[in-house]
Amino acid sequence: MIRYFIPFTLLCATLAFASCGDNEDNDIDVPTEEVVPGTNHNVLVAYFSEPLPDGVDASTSASRVIVNGDLYGSVEYMAIVISEATGADVVRIQTATPYPGNFDDLASQADNERQNDIRPALATEIENFDDYDVLFVGYPIWWYQMPMAMYSFFDEYDFTGKTLIPFSSHGGSGWSGTVDDIAGMEPNATMVDGYSISRNSVAGSADGIREWLGRIGMSEQ
Ligand SMILES: Cc1cc2nc3c(=O)[nH]c(=O)nc-3n(C[C@H](O)[C@H](O)[C@H](O)COP(=O)(O)O)c2cc1C
Repeated sequence: MIRYFIPFTLLCATLAFASCGDNEDNDIDVPTEEVVPGTNHNVLVAYFSEPLPDGVDASTSASRVIVNGDLYGSVEYMAIVISEATGADVVRIQTATPYPGNFDDLASQADNERQNDIRPALATEIENFDDYDVLFVGYPIWWYQMPMAMYSFFDEYDFTGKTLIPFSSHGGSGWSGTVDDIAGMEPNATMVDGYSISRNSVAGSADGIREWLGRIGMSEQ
C-alpha cells in the first residue's frame, strides 16, 4: 500500500492536483452528451474490480467496502448501485488468469503489465453485447491509468454507435486521464459524463451515484 499511497499524497500536496479530491473530479474534457431521459434503453453495467484479499487491513487499504455487513470491491459496489437504480444487466470483467491474492504481487504484476503493454486475456465473454445501446463501464485506477484488462476489454468490443458512461474508484488520482484514453480507443461511441469517487467515500456513495444518474437522465428506466 505504501508503495503507491505515498506518491499520490506527495503529488497531491506538491502539485495541488484538483483531481486528488474525493468527488471533485467528475468534469471530463471530452465531448459529452446526455442520454435522452424517458427513452427505453438496453443497459449493461460492465465493471472490473479487485478487492484486496483477506488479511489486508481494510482501514489502511480501504479497497474493500463493507455495506450492511456485506463485502464489496469499490467499483463492484458502484456497479451494484448503478444496476439497481437503472434496471441494467451487470457483468464483471475478469481475466482468464486470476490476479495474485496479495497486494505486493498484484501491484508488481499490474505495473509489469502497464510498462510492457500486456493486455491479459479475458475470461468474461459478453455474447449479447450487440443488444446493448447504453453501457456503463467501471474500473479502478491502477498505476495512474486503467488496469490493463480494461485495454483488453476495449480491444475486444466495438462501441460504435453506443453510449458509453465511465465510472471509477481511485485512491487519490481521480480519473487520471482515463476518460480521454477510452475516448481515444472508442472514437465512435457517445461519451456521457461519468462518475469518479475516492475509495474512501464509496461506502456512503449510493445517494451521490443516484443523483448523478438523475443528472444524465438514467435514473428511471
Ligand atoms: C495494483 C494497484 C494499483 C493502484 N494504483 C493506484 C493509482 O495509481 N492511483 C490511485 O488513485 N489509486 C490506485 N490504486 C487504488 C485503487 O484505485 C482503489 O483502491 C480502488 O478503489 C480499487 O477498486 P476495487 O476495490 O473495485 O478494485 C491502486 C490499487 C491497486 C490494487
